[in-house]
Formats: sequence, structure tokens, C-alpha cells
Amino acid sequence: MSVQAKRRADYQPPAFSIATVDLHITLHPTETKVVSTLAIARNGAHNAPLVLDGDGLELNAIAVNGEALSEEFYTLGDNTLSINSELDTFELVITTTIAPEHNKALEGLYLSGGAYCTQCEAEGFRRITYFMDRPDVLSVYTVTVVADKSIPMLLANGNPVDKGDIGASSHFVKWHDPHPKPCYLFALVAGDFDLLTDSYTTSSGKEVALELYVDKGKKSQGVFALESLKRAMKWDEDVFGLEYDLDIYMIVAVDFFNMGAMENKGLNVFNSKFVLADQESATDDDFFNVESVIAHEYFHNWTGNRVTCRDWFQLSLKEGLTVFRDQQFSADMTSALSNRIKHVRVMREHQFAEDASAMSHPIRPEEVIEMNNFYTVTVYDKGAEVIRMFHTLLGPDGFRRGMDEYFKRHDGQAVTCDDFISAMQSATDLDLTQFARWYSQSGTPVISVEHKIQNDDNDDVIHTFTLSQHTPATSDQSEKESLYIPVNIEIIDDEGNTYTDNESMIQNGMVILNAPSMSFTVNAENASLTPVVLGNFSAPAKVENPLDTASLLTIFKYAKDPFNRWDAMQTLYDRCIKQIEDAPGCAISNDIWEGIKQAIAQEQSNLELLGECLVTPSFETLCQSRSNINVSALSKARKAFCDQFAQALEQELLQVFNNIDAASYSYTQDAVNQRRCKNVVLAHLARLPQHEGAIVAQFDAADNMTDTLGALRSAQHCNSATFDTLMARFEATWNHDPLVLDKWFALHATQNRDDIFATITMLCEHPQFAMSNPNRVRSVIGSFAFYNSERFHALDGSGYKFVTDYLLKLDAVNPQVAARIVTPLTQWQGFANEHQVLMKQQLGRLLNHKGLSKDVFEKVSKSLAYDKH
Ligand code: TRP
Ligand code: ZN
Repeated sequence: MSVQAKRRADYQPPAFSIATVDLHITLHPTETKVVSTLAIARNGAHNAPLVLDGDGLELNAIAVNGEALSEEFYTLGDNTLSINSELDTFELVITTTIAPEHNKALEGLYLSGGAYCTQCEAEGFRRITYFMDRPDVLSVYTVTVVADKSIPMLLANGNPVDKGDIGASSHFVKWHDPHPKPCYLFALVAGDFDLLTDSYTTSSGKEVALELYVDKGKKSQGVFALESLKRAMKWDEDVFGLEYDLDIYMIVAVDFFNMGAMENKGLNVFNSKFVLADQESATDDDFFNVESVIAHEYFHNWTGNRVTCRDWFQLSLKEGLTVFRDQQFSADMTSALSNRIKHVRVMREHQFAEDASAMSHPIRPEEVIEMNNFYTVTVYDKGAEVIRMFHTLLGPDGFRRGMDEYFKRHDGQAVTCDDFISAMQSATDLDLTQFARWYSQSGTPVISVEHKIQNDDNDDVIHTFTLSQHTPATSDQSEKESLYIPVNIEIIDDEGNTYTDNESMIQNGMVILNAPSMSFTVNAENASLTPVVLGNFSAPAKVENPLDTASLLTIFKYAKDPFNRWDAMQTLYDRCIKQIEDAPGCAISNDIWEGIKQAIAQEQSNLELLGECLVTPSFETLCQSRSNINVSALSKARKAFCDQFAQALEQELLQVFNNIDAASYSYTQDAVNQRRCKNVVLAHLARLPQHEGAIVAQFDAADNMTDTLGALRSAQHCNSATFDTLMARFEATWNHDPLVLDKWFALHATQNRDDIFATITMLCEHPQFAMSNPNRVRSVIGSFAFYNSERFHALDGSGYKFVTDYLLKLDAVNPQVAARIVTPLTQWQGFANEHQVLMKQQLGRLLNHKGLSKDVFEKVSKSLAYDKH
């Protein structure tokens, strides 16, 4: 396979600009006509041809300044159209034909359940027409959409400016978007939807029409999304002083979508999973996700659209920043603590794993084969952590000044991460030069804590704390430099008193670790001090802090930062599981259970923290603090710990469970915390057969999806007959609604059962399943590969083979989704050799497959090449 990587270092500014784009699109399932009229201008003095990107287009005609262009003046390559013209400015008209009905990759123009829609980010516009498909070419778009009258709603970016009939059976709507934009923000939707309307008056008094388009019959499930949108609009005004800038804001929910949602200017397109929600069909997590994705796409209007990326290597410029903004919004709408925990789990389960794999890359990658592969947890979530560190270092006011400066300098431009850093630099006296390494260095830094105790001449006890940093080599970089790391820190004794250091290196509860190591001293009469490190996860790092059980429990009892308190319990559980791994069958000592009982007693009234603290670390998180993993041994150890947990704490758990009364449903933070805690506890109790009745009772009584699903998840630990019965009842109730059925698919696919492949094969033959729908595929195959660790990693190789067989078929349909699901197979580094051999065998099968997409090729070839180091 010949595929060429692109390098950040090779960036060249565009040789031409395109001031205006006029599109005339006549929709047809297999013969959509696209007439594109471009105002081209040469940039500077050169005589290079105009090179346009195109992919899978049928070229019908080219005209320059109104005259058909003869063949000697253009060259049609595999994926390019080059125009040789001596003119410095000219009007170029290109006519092409495309077949949306045959587009199963869901990039460009495609049909989603009968509705036309587009997805152009990152490089999908070239599948609609020939164009300079790069984010630094900004144009003003006018779009005329023509369709049969059976398709009543015709949408595109900006404001509608004209509409009318064409003959008896067709009609058109013409749209104009006054804001220059890159082509990846172009959107078109045409279909027959239910429409929810509302309006929002901006702080400067401008009225904006809000429109939400959903599948017919789903109107009531769109109300929450629309309310969320208004909250996001208000929040961005309040916190960042940013107002919406068009007369209309449209959101369309579609069922076939590769990712979460897309921020097309004035016309967001959403995966219906992140729009539709009501009490019966959506869990609290679903409500949370709807609000956060709605906000994310809305916030892109400023961080992404008004100020966009110069090139795709700068993706984190918009994504890291926008994720940070949506996280802050969610924290304000719900609760800071549970948000922080949620995002730290993503970092530890997925981002750390990516950084340890052959796909390791800095938040600003250096080299890319397929851009779709770089919409990663590193660019998005670690990117957001880096923005969060700016916020921590500059403070909220400094951060706001930096943002104001960023917009002042760059509104209407396509810029780089360096431009963002220098705007932030203007708002602070700190020197951000070293901090900027977070953009160029990949890998997860490890912060080690050392604690030495000495007596000085006066017999005072002097504690010396040393923090050091080390970033292990990654697949893409062997040499690592010291990072500039803000480390939140508290020093406490076993009665909860806090201490200051002699050198005043701790400022506002934070030290800056910007060298390989640093030390400070604390004088104390009390000889037992505990360093509480990385409060609020102040940097995307791992911590090695050799604390004993007593110190962990002290942190839980007394640390000021609730994140540290949660984290201490997570570390404690991790230790216990390690102990069982090392000595299978061993019993966790009673003082640990006593400590946890006290913790439960202490937090009786704080259900939010209590609920989170009772969650045991996931298998995926445990993997990040281990190497040479034997999956079955680790799973068994985790299960043994959970079983002991339930036995030892049964009375306490029951008491928590019974104290939470089942009020009728509302989506408020208090109610969410209650349901969360109750369901976490129920999942523990489910490991004791005597509580099976409580699970069935909850399933029977539930008036909302959170409790229904909580019961089903718990039933995964019950005997299989109970699980099967409840699952069958769920299917009978929800068979008509595939989005809800996805939860059922995922539960089946994550069962640890001998007949798992028969089950999955049956799921794939379910009438509601379709390989062409990414949500279904993620629910069944994605859930299996990412979360059914025991069966996926079975030592007969059956799990790896099953996923590979599936990917070989899926790749021919939708490479973008295939390349996401291949991830667990490529992350073999942490596992024991027996696993690695089997995983690489299957990666080899993929690599040898004729016609493999470059999406999957990039990840598989990197994974196999990493081996040779
Ligand atoms: N920019 C989108 C977001 O973060 C995500 C996105 C990128 C996307 N590429 C995509 C969505 C392809 C769907 C399909 O909000
Ligand atoms: Zn985004």
C-alpha cells in the first residue's frame, strides 16, 4: 500500500484564495448535480497551477470566465484537479455528479434514513466538489438547494434568502452565510423532519431563531436539547462575553453519524444519540451528554468557526479549547466534582493507553496519514487538560484576558496553537516558553513523590519532600524534556492539620515542577505527615506516591480537595486488587474494611462523593498501573476484590441503599446523585445472591431509564437466568427504538459468557442491527472490543479473531468507524506475551488484507512497526 504521511513542518500557505463559493445542488439519490462557482485569486506572484482536491467525483464540466475549459488546460489526477491558467483572478465553474445513496462511509453528502446530510470535517468536502479542501481557505458561501417536493425541508449554512418552485415537482431554498468559513464547516440537510422552534435574545438584544429538527414523532424528545442550547448561549455570554452572530441557529439530529456531532456554521448536525432524551428512554448520563455535546458544538461557533485552524495539525486549537469550555459549562450546570472525576476517568482509561501505544502523539501531532485518525482522546481530552493548566496558571481573570486577546487578534482568521499561546502570554507575567512543550511532547509524565524524615540539631523533625518528573519514551519520541507542571499539593498530618513549607514553594496550594526534580522541607512535631499530590488532577500525569493504607485513609478523611479524597480510595482499591493478584485467594485485611466503613459513615450525607468513592477502578484503569498483564488473572483478582467488598460491607451498603428513597423522577443534581449512589451500591449487592430480589424489584418499579439500566447492569452479576429474563423484558419494551436498544446490545456484548460469540452473532442478525449504522456497530462490536476484556482477550485468541473478522467486513463499508474499533487490538503493549502474540497475528491479517482503508492501515501498520523497536 502506498500511503504518504503529511508533516506539520511542510506547511505551505495556499497558492490561491477563493473569496466566494456559489453552490447549486440538485439532490438525487444516485445523481446529485453540484455546480460550484468559485471566485479564484492568485496569492502573490507565481505561476503554479490551481490544484483542487476531489474524491470519488464524476467531473461533468469546467468553465473559466464563462467559457468551457479545453482539456489541455487541466489535469485530472486520482484525487486532484489541476487548472493551468495564466490569469491572476478568474471565475471557475465546475460541475460534478455524486451518488449520496451509495455513500456508506458517511463523509461528504450521504443519505441517513431517507434524509440527505453532509459531513465535511475533516476532508469530506472534496467528496462533494473539487475544492481547496484545507481549513485556511476561507470563503463566503451562497448555496441553493434543489430537491423534489417530497423533501420539504432544505437547509444550509447561514440565513435563508430566497425560495420557490421549479416546475411542478421541484422546489429550492437559497442560503447565504455572511461569515467567511473553511469548507469543512459547510453543511446541507434535506428531509422531512419534526421541527421544534424557540428563540433566544442575546445580551445585546438581538433575537436569534432556534430550530431543532428531529425524526418524525420524536418532538418531545428534543425539548431538553433545546433548553440546553439556551443555557449554553447564556453561559458563553456570561463567562466569555461571546454572543451568537447569525439570525438563526439550526440543529438537525440524524441516525447515521460517525461521531458525536458537528459544528457546521449555523447548522449543526448531530448524532441523534446526543439530541433525543426523555425520562423513559434516556439515563441521567444521556441527559448529561446531550447538554454537554449541544454546548460543545455551540461553543465552537467562536472557538473553531470565528477563529479556525490554519491546518489540521492544529486541531487541538479548537478541540482542546472547546472541550475545556464544555467541561467548565457542565461543571457549572451540574457539579464540579463529578465532572472532574468523569474526565479523569477518560484520561486514565483511554488517553494514557493511547500514549502508551503506537499511536502516541503530542496534542499537536507532527505527522498524519489519515486525519480522521487524529480526532483522538489526546487531541481532545489531553488538549483540554492543557488548556485547563493555562486556566490554573493564569487564574480565571488572566485566562479571560488571554481569551479576549485571542479573539481581538484572530477573529476571522485561520491560526495555530502558537498563536493561542502567544495570546495567553500577553495576559501573564509567567514565561510560557517551557509550558509550550505540552504541545510538542507526547507521553504521560510520571510525578514521583519522595518523603524523607530527619531530626535536626534541635531535635525538631524535618520532613523533606522531593517531587520528580519523568516522561517515559513513547513510540513517536525517544527523548523527553522536563515539562512545566502545576502540581496542587497539601501536606497534612493524621489529624488533618495542614502545614506550610519552609521555602514557600507551595503557593496557593500549588507548586511548579519545571525541573527534573524539586524539594521543599516542612518542620513538624508530629512525625507522620502525608503529602496529598495532584489535587483536582492539576496536570495530565500519573503519580507515584508510596503511601501506606493508613495515609490513604487519612487523605480520605482530611484532605481539603474532594478529588484527592476520591483518588485516595481509588488507589486503595488498586492496592487491594494488586494484593490479590500477587496472592490469589488471599483475604483483604479487616482494618481496610473498617477504614472503608468509617469512610461510608463519614459521607452518609454526601451522596455525590460517597457514590463515586464506592466505584471500584475499571479493568481499563487498572491496566494503566500495570505491565505484562495477564487478563484473566487481573479480572479474577478484580472480581474477587468486588466479591469480598460486597460481603464485608453488606450491612453498610444495604443501609445506604435503603436510606435513599425513591422520589419521583427529576433531572436535578441532587436526584442524579441519589440515583447514581443507589445504583453503584446495587451493583455491589448484586454479587450476593440474597439481593437478587432488590434488582428485580428496582427493574419492576423503575419509572426512568437510569434505574432500569442500573438494575440491568447489576443483573450482569446475577445468575444468567435472571439476567436473561430481564433482558428479554427490556427488548420487548424497547424493540421499536434503536437508540434505546443500543444499551441492550451493549449489555449483551459485555457479558462474560461461554456462548458470547453466538450471542454477538445473534445481535448482528437482530432486525434493528445494521452494519451501516455506526451507533449499532459501536454498541455491539465496540462494546465487546473495548469493555468485554475477559472474552476479547481470551487466550485461545477467539476474541481477537472475532473482532478482526468483523473489521475486515466493516472496513469496506465505513473505514472511519473501523479504525476506531481497531484501537484495543493495536494496544497490545501492556499485555503479557501470550496476548501480544495473538493480537499481532490478527493485526497481521488486517495489514495483509487487499483494499484495506488508509484509516485502518495507519493504525495497524504503526502498531506492528512499534514491535520492531
Ligand atoms: N468537530 C466535531 C466536534 O468535535 C467532530 C468531528 C470531527 C466529526 N470529524 C467528524 C463529527 C466526522 C462527525 C464526523 O464537535
Ligand atoms: Zn469539537
